[in-house]
Amino acid sequence: MSNDGVNAGRRRFLVAATSVVGAAGAVGAAVPFVGSWFPSAKAKAAGAPVKVNVSKIEPGQQMVAEWRGQPVFIVRRTEEILGNLVKLEPQLADFDSKASEQPSYVDAKTRSIKPEVLLLVGLCTHLGCSPSFRPEVAPADLGAEWVGGYFCPCHGSRYDLAGRVYKAQPAPMNLPVPPHTYESDDVVIIGVDQEQA
Ligand code: FES
Repeated sequence: MSNDGVNAGRRRFLVAATSVVGAAGAVGAAVPFVGSWFPSAKAKAAGAPVKVNVSKIEPGQQMVAEWRGQPVFIVRRTEEILGNLVKLEPQLADFDSKASEQPSYVDAKTRSIKPEVLLLVGLCTHLGCSPSFRPEVAPADLGAEWVGGYFCPCHGSRYDLAGRVYKAQPAPMNLPVPPHTYESDDVVIIGVDQEQA
């Protein structure tokens, strides 16, 4: 009798543990670029890696996943966006991410494994607000020079579309890049490091 109870409990745990990754992936595929992230209390509590299918993110758009209770921004960058990253370098505080938090296997400037897919921890390095995704060019509130990026609504910090902070902002560092790896062309696992060559 008591053994049955233990086994049933263990089965429930296994089902719960394995459904975390599946649920996050499914939601990510169905709602690729919403403005909020996916609540997943189980993943948050466990700090589990999260799988996300990034194939449905439209060029120039972002989706938001959740990993360890934090929003993770995932952006599909266009050639134009990648070109702007180079032009913006003189305006950035740490364009090659020497003083910022990112895994060693991402490119120092594009800050990604694949140039077109960017992942960032979506918490401002000033006081932790979640910056807004502002991909538009020259919107009235951000000015004629704006070519797309992140704007923190709390104290106005500006970041480019590699999460690199502009000079003279309240935020001291670039947005962190979380550990991640690709399971396949379309599926990225957040929270697992890419194997080093
Ligand atoms: S928390 Fe983002 S600018 Fe202060």
